[in-house]
Amino acid sequence: MAELLGLGCSHGPIILTPPEVWSKGRERIFARVPGYEPPARLLDELGEDNGLSQDISDQQKVVDSFSVLRDRLHEWEPDVLMVIGDDQAENFLQDNLPPFCLYTGAAVDGYPFQRPAARTNLWNSAPETKFTFQCPKEFSRDLRNHLIRDGFDMASSSALKGWDWGLAHAIINPLVFLDPEGKFPLLPLFVNCYGEEAGPDYPPRPTPKRCYQLGQGIRKFLDTRDERVAVVASSSWSHSFLAHKFQCRSIDIDTDRRYLELVRAGKGSKLAELTPEEIQDSGDHEILNWIIALGILGDVPANIVDVRESHTQLAYRVAAIWD
Ligand SMILES: [Fe+2]
Repeated sequence: MAELLGLGCSHGPIILTPPEVWSKGRERIFARVPGYEPPARLLDELGEDNGLSQDISDQQKVVDSFSVLRDRLHEWEPDVLMVIGDDQAENFLQDNLPPFCLYTGAAVDGYPFQRPAARTNLWNSAPETKFTFQCPKEFSRDLRNHLIRDGFDMASSSALKGWDWGLAHAIINPLVFLDPEGKFPLLPLFVNCYGEEAGPDYPPRPTPKRCYQLGQGIRKFLDTRDERVAVVASSSWSHSFLAHKFQCRSIDIDTDRRYLELVRAGKGSKLAELTPEEIQDSGDHEILNWIIALGILGDVPANIVDVRESHTQLAYRVAAIWD
């Protein structure tokens, strides 16, 4: 039987940076939207100091919530640390675009501070700083083989290519807080959450239903094993630059509050019923990572550690623990 710990967190590059540079990220993102006009609530939060007071408060809460998650993880001591994160045209490019891919190699590196948005970081670390993780390759291959034999055609890679910076930021960024020393064997699961919006000729993102089924398939495998597995759902929810119902100008707080109450109440399976159109409208593309985790964990109530709702941080940010 599986022994499971669930953690939910965000991964945007701003989590690695001091609040004094958050406005730069904001301006870069807003500049992508032609004729961008800030919503009224964002103007309120920007206040008189271009959002600095709001950013200082949000940044502290983000760091505090990561330390709660980190402490729980290290006290629990998993045999396998599975991180479910989306690839945003990083490790997966036009040569190979699977909906899901398990990493089955023996080790993997990441360079979280290479990304221009994380060059100014909380640790004053150099861009070339490398993080190295050992990976449970027998376990991940067994998982892949089980999924395929059970009817779920899982892709795998034991040699990430296509990106000199190593692991995609959705996987590496939370690890900078949760396990920077690489204490726990790391099992990355990549998900094509962005679909067509990741780049030219990217296929559609997998449906919420399929993501939940994948989680259930992984759980079936875990129930045959003795390892203690920590499952990390790595992503913010609604993103301002993805919420098409608001012309990519605003996060969808009302929708995410509804989803939050489902997750809190142990009704995560309800998220499997979302349609691809609903995900696209509210900019909740990345919540697919959480839906896979919910499929693994089952309808267990989540302890919500923190919720960041301000428009200034560009995405709805939830930190949660299931244990
Ligand atoms: Fe992301």
